[in-house]
Amino acid sequence: MSADRSKEAAGRAAALLLRDGMRVGLGTGSTAHWFILAAGEAVRSGLRIQAVATSEASARLAGELGIALVELDRRGLDLAVDGADLVDPESRLIKGGGGAHVRERLVAVAARRFVVVADASKMVAQLRGPVPVEILSFGADATLAALEACGAFFTLRADPEGRPRVSDSGNLLGDGHFDLISDPEGLARRLDAVPGLVGHGLFLGMADLVLVGDETGGVREVATGRTQ
Ligand code: A5P
Repeated sequence: MSADRSKEAAGRAAALLLRDGMRVGLGTGSTAHWFILAAGEAVRSGLRIQAVATSEASARLAGELGIALVELDRRGLDLAVDGADLVDPESRLIKGGGGAHVRERLVAVAARRFVVVADASKMVAQLRGPVPVEILSFGADATLAALEACGAFFTLRADPEGRPRVSDSGNLLGDGHFDLISDPEGLARRLDAVPGLVGHGLFLGMADLVLVGDETGGVREVATGRTQ
């Protein structure tokens, strides 16, 4: 209940950054959900925005709320708002608990301002696993072996019936069971070099602002090196 209150506070605070005419990236997950709800309320009150959703679930919610959805194109976005699984003191993130990290990265990179919304439980002194990955199904076992050479055991996600979980793009989802990650940049470089990997959940040096909600409804702004 209180986690929900914290997530709502962060999501609603991010919606205050919306301006008429903006092109906006909509994140995925239970915190981004509140941002989308608040954006929908603003649209009902007359705000005009165009939005790119990072998942089918967020697109569905936005559509129900009357938010105009567009494709991601070369014009980029003014603002993207998304949640995170973990945030370290340098605002490096682990994302992808919901399996949307590949689309989330495309949208975050396309945005002139990337704002992260989180509750206090996400703020950690050091990043640790699981690190989500999305991999091509072709050669998946070979890809998993190459990923394991980066220093952790990897598992594929499955539903309760044992069927593989796939991303909205149809690729396999998995997780690398790293312990504490002492060198996130080095790990990201090693993961990026694995053929067959579509994307991982380490989002480093990308956040412009982190909004941390608390259970009283307050929000703390964490400035990052990239804050405008
Ligand atoms: C979705 O794939 C993720 O990157 C989410 O943004 C992340 O897991 C945070 O989700 P919650 O806000 O639900 O914790």
